[in-house]
Amino acid sequence: MSSTLVGTLKTNLEQLRRYQALETHAARLLGGWLPGVAHWEIKQQIGYHLWEDLRHSQIIRTRLWELRITNPDRDLDPTVREAIERLAVAQHDYELIAGVYLVLKAELLAAYKHYVATTFHVYDHPSVIALNTIIPTLEHQITWAAQVVNEQANTGAKRRQVKRWQQYAQDVIAAIGGVNGDATKTDFPVPPPGYASLLPFAEAKRDERFTVQVAGAPMPDENDFMGYLLWQFSNYVQEMQAAETLATVMWEVKDMEWDFYFDIARHCWDEIRHSELGETRLDQLGYHISDFPSSIGSYGWRQLFNPLIRYCALTYVIEADSFKLKHASYQKYLDQNDLESAQSIMYDIMDETMHVRFGQKWVPPLMAHYGESRSLEDLIAECRQIVAQHSVAPAQRIAALAR
Ligand SMILES: [Fe+2]
Ligand SMILES: [Fe+2]
Repeated sequence: MSSTLVGTLKTNLEQLRRYQALETHAARLLGGWLPGVAHWEIKQQIGYHLWEDLRHSQIIRTRLWELRITNPDRDLDPTVREAIERLAVAQHDYELIAGVYLVLKAELLAAYKHYVATTFHVYDHPSVIALNTIIPTLEHQITWAAQVVNEQANTGAKRRQVKRWQQYAQDVIAAIGGVNGDATKTDFPVPPPGYASLLPFAEAKRDERFTVQVAGAPMPDENDFMGYLLWQFSNYVQEMQAAETLATVMWEVKDMEWDFYFDIARHCWDEIRHSELGETRLDQLGYHISDFPSSIGSYGWRQLFNPLIRYCALTYVIEADSFKLKHASYQKYLDQNDLESAQSIMYDIMDETMHVRFGQKWVPPLMAHYGESRSLEDLIAECRQIVAQHSVAPAQRIAALAR
C-alpha cells in the first residue's frame, strides 16, 4: 500500500485487509474442528458457515481490489494467523464454537457496524454496501452459536469451562490489538492448564444417536430396487466424511493462495449438502439417518495420508471414478419412474463434475506446495492404488480396481 495514504482512508484499508483474513482463517479453524464436532446438525451448520465465511471474505476482497489492493494478504500482520492457531487449542467443541462465534465473530460484527457508521458515506459508500451485505448473516451465525453453546454446555462445570475459554479468546484477540489492530498489542495469554491442540482429528466424531462402523455397506443385489435405493441414499449420508476430509485440508494446508481456500470451502459445503441429500431422501422414504450405521472409516484412512494424497485421491480417483455408477443409477430411477431420486442424482453429478475440475485446478499447485517431484500421472496412479487398498467403501474399491 502506498505510504502516502493518510487518516481514515489509510486506517480503513488496513481494517478491511484484516477483516478478509480473519474471515478466511476463522473458516479454516472451523474446518480443522469439523470432524471433532459430534452433534450431527451442528456439524452440518458449521460446514455451511465456513463456506459463508469465505464468501464474506470474497466480498471484502472484491472491495479491496476496487481500492487498488490487489493482494490483501501481502505483509499482513502475522499475529492475525497466530491468534487463530491459539484459538485452535480448545478441548471441547462447545468451547471452540464459543471462542470463534461469541468472541471473534462478535468482535468482527461490532467492528463492521462501527466501520459502516463512521466511514465516509459518499466516498466509501461501496464498502458500506459490502459490509452491510455481511452483517445480517454474521448476526445470524452468532445467534445460532449462542443457542448451541447454551444447549451443549449444559452442566455447571461445562458452563465454567466456556466462561474461562471465552475470557481466554478475548485475551487472544486483545493481544493482536483487537480485530482492527489499532489497540495496544500485548503478549498472547497462556491457555488453560493442559490445553494443547487436538488437531488434526484422527477420527470423525458422531453423536450418541448413531451406530458407528468403520466399513461402508456392501452393494445390494441389482434387482432389489428398494434395497439399492436405500443403499444409495444412506451412502450419500456418509459423504459427510468427504466434507470432513476437505475441512481438514483447509486447516492443515497453510499458505496457499486465497482462492484455494475459497474452492475447498465450497467443495466441503457441497459434500455436506450431498449428505443432506441422502438424509432428505431417506426421510421421504420413512427412514431416519440413524436407522443406518454411520461410517467413519473413509475419513479415518484418508487421515493416514498427507493433505496432497487425501485431496488427489478424493478428486482424481474417488470422485472421478464415481460417474459410471451414478449415471447407471440415474437411468435405473428414470426406468422406475422415481423422478425425485433421478433428479437428486443429476444435481449431484453436476456438483461432482465441478469437484473433479477443482481437483485438476489445485492438485498441481498443491504438488508444488509439498515439493512433490513425481509427475501428476504417477501421483494419481499411487492414489488409485491407495484407494483400492484402503477404501472401506466397496463401490470405491471396485471402481478404482476397474481402471
Ligand atoms: Fe459428493
Ligand atoms: Fe464431491
